[in-house]
Amino acid sequence: MDDKEEELNRGRRTFLKAMIVLSAGVAVAGVLKGAVTNIITPLVGISSFPTMELVGADGKPLLYSDIPVNTPTTWLFYYPLTNDPNFLLNLGDASGNPVNVPSYDVPIPATGSTYKFNGGVGPKGSVVAYSAICQHLGCIPPEIHYYPPTQTVPGTSFSGSSNPGYIHCSCHGSTYDPLKGAKVITGPTSRPLPNVQLKYNSSTGTFSAYSMVGPTIYGKVSDLSGGTPYASSATTVTVTNTGIP
Ligand code: FES
Repeated sequence: MDDKEEELNRGRRTFLKAMIVLSAGVAVAGVLKGAVTNIITPLVGISSFPTMELVGADGKPLLYSDIPVNTPTTWLFYYPLTNDPNFLLNLGDASGNPVNVPSYDVPIPATGSTYKFNGGVGPKGSVVAYSAICQHLGCIPPEIHYYPPTQTVPGTSFSGSSNPGYIHCSCHGSTYDPLKGAKVITGPTSRPLPNVQLKYNSSTGTFSAYSMVGPTIYGKVSDLSGGTPYASSATTVTVTNTGIP
C-alpha cells in the first residue's frame, strides 16, 4: 500500500469515527429532549367531564333571558379545562324568534362516522354550545365567528336567505352549521366543531355544562388533558360576552 492509499484509508476511518460519534450525540440529544419536554410540560388533565353551572360575569347563574337570541356578539366560556373556549349561542330564525334545535346525527367527513347531537336546551330548545377552536388548524375568535341569520359572512356567498346562521372561520374558510350540531358546510375542515352538552334546569332556569361529544378538541389527544383543570372545588364556569360583534 503506497502512502497515498494509506492517507486515503486514514481519512475514511476518521470520517467513520466522526459519523459514529455524531449519531450517538443525536440519539442522546433526542432522549434528553424528550425527558426535558416531559418535565416542562407534563400531561395535565382530569379523569371525567365535570358538571359546571353557567354563570355571568357577576357570578350569578345565567338565565335564558340573559342570552340574546341570535347572539349578536361572541359569548364564550371555557370548558372542560380552563384553556378550552366554547361558543354559547341562543339560535333564532331570520325574524329573531328562537328556534327549537332538534337532535341530529352529525357526520364526520374525515372518518365517515357519525355521532348524536342532542339538540338545543332551554325553554325554547334554542341554546347550544360548541368548541370555538376551528377544527381545521385551530383558529379561535375573532377569526372563527358566529354570523346570525341573513348577516353577510365576509369572503363568502353566504348572506340573506343563504345564511341561516353559520359559524365561519376566516383563516381558511371553514363553515359550520350550529343548527345541525356544527356539521361541516364548507372545508377545508373535515371535522365538525365538538359539542358541549348542556342541561337546563326548568325549576331554577339555569344551565350546566356536563360533557362533550364529537371529535376531540383541535390540537388535543383527549378533551380531558393537555391543559389546566379548574380547581376540584369549582362548580361554576363564567360565560363572558366578549363584545366581539
Ligand atoms: S383554521 Fe379555521 S379554516 Fe383553517
